[in-house]
Amino acid sequence: MSKIKIAASILSADFARLGEECTKVLAAGADTIHFDVMDNHYVPNLTIGPLVCKALRDFGIQAPIDVHLMTKPVDNLIHDFAKAGATYITIHPEATEHIDRSLQLIHDLGCLAGLAFNPVTPLDYLDYSLEKLDLILIMSVNPGFAGQSFIPGSLQKIQTVRKILETRQKTKILLEVDGGVKVNNFTKIAAAGADTFVIGSEIFNTPNKNYTAIISKIRELKI
Ligand code: DX5
Ligand code: ZN
Repeated sequence: MSKIKIAASILSADFARLGEECTKVLAAGADTIHFDVMDNHYVPNLTIGPLVCKALRDFGIQAPIDVHLMTKPVDNLIHDFAKAGATYITIHPEATEHIDRSLQLIHDLGCLAGLAFNPVTPLDYLDYSLEKLDLILIMSVNPGFAGQSFIPGSLQKIQTVRKILETRQKTKILLEVDGGVKVNNFTKIAAAGADTFVIGSEIFNTPNKNYTAIISKIRELKI
C-alpha cells in the first residue's frame, strides 16, 4: 500500500477551521491536500481561490497542495496559485485555448502539472501532452460538487490510462481519481490502476471526525 497516495479534498472540510482541518487530516495519514477551485462558470459552483492557498501555507501547512482548477480560463490563476504555494496545478483541457502553453506555464512557474479528464472527455488529449505531465486526473463524477456517486465507467478509463502509461514508459506520472471514492469502491479503483485517490466526503464526514480511523481503514484494504 506504500505507493498509494491519499489526497484529502478539503471541499468537505470545515471552512471556518481550515488550517486545523488540514493539519488534522495530514496527521491522520493523508499525503496531500486536494484544493478544489470552482468559478461558477466552468462549473456551477463557487469555492476558494489563491488567498486561501496562501493562508494555508502561512498557517504552516507544508504538505503538497494539489490545486484542481475547475475554472475557465486558467492562465491567470496558474500565476496566482504558483505564487500562493501550490505544488501541483491541474487544468481541464476544455478550459484553455492552448493546453501545451498552459502546461508549460505551470512548469515555468516551478509547479508540477496535471491534466484532468471529465467523464466523457476523450483520452486523445494524452497523445501529445504526456511529456509535460506529472499527473493525470480522471474525474469519476462530473466536476462541481462533493458527495456525488462514482460513475462506474470510470474504471475502464483508469485501466486504459494505466496501459498508456506502461506502453509509453511513463509510470512516474501519477494517476489520480477524483469523485465518489469510498471505502467500498477503493479496492476496485486501485485494481484498475489508480495510485492517487482524492477523497473528500468519506473522510471529512466520517463519524466523530475521526480522520485517523477512516484513513487507516482505507490503508488496510487489501489491493
Ligand atoms: C468534484 C471535486 C472533488 C470532490 C470530491 O468536482 O473535484 O475533489 O471534492 O469529493 P467526494 O470525495 O465527496 O466525491
Ligand atoms: Zn477535485
